[in-house]
Amino acid sequence: MKYLPKSKWKKAGLIILLLIGLIQLYPRPEKNISDKASNNSITQLYQVPDSVMSILKTACYDCHSNNTKYPWYSTIQPVALFLNRHIIHGKEELNFDEFGSYTRRRQQSKFKAIANQLKDDEMPLSSYKLLHSDARLNQMQKNRIIEWTKMSIEK
Ligand code: HEC
Repeated sequence: MKYLPKSKWKKAGLIILLLIGLIQLYPRPEKNISDKASNNSITQLYQVPDSVMSILKTACYDCHSNNTKYPWYSTIQPVALFLNRHIIHGKEELNFDEFGSYTRRRQQSKFKAIANQLKDDEMPLSSYKLLHSDARLNQMQKNRIIEWTKMSIEK
């Protein structure tokens, strides 16, 4: 791009830097971290084998529990706001730490929803998988979770 003189580019760069700096002043949302164990955790009601729990913890718990493991870039704005939106919406739909407070009917329908999300490759969110390579589940891991949802539905 020749039509902009070098000095203008410099100015544009400075303005962008300034904007990035300014947006950092936007208040960061409160973190999703709870230090007490939940009485309504899914493990109080359903059997969750270690092999299943470790997959859920790595791939789902950041948005579907009361405890998120925050990466270093999570305090940078506007990243902090994006992450917070995902966590709030994710927890609204499904919170493994509040699972026990759902009606039986809702619990059972959540198991079906989990299996469907995995079959359709909708979860974890792709933006999450981009930065969390260990959350890109292989077929075996998906099958493990799907099998577990079937077991829990029959219970
Ligand atoms: C980065 C955050 C994030 C991660 C990680 C994540 N989810 Fe979600 N999940 C969401 C959000 C946001 C929604 C609600 C909006 C939507 O459906 O896109 C959602 C919705 C869902 C729903 C839909 C609930 C319903 O009743 O329709 C299910 C089921 C689900 N997630 C399961 C999972 C499972 C299982 C994993 C792990 C394999 C996972 N999610 C990982 C953010 C996440």
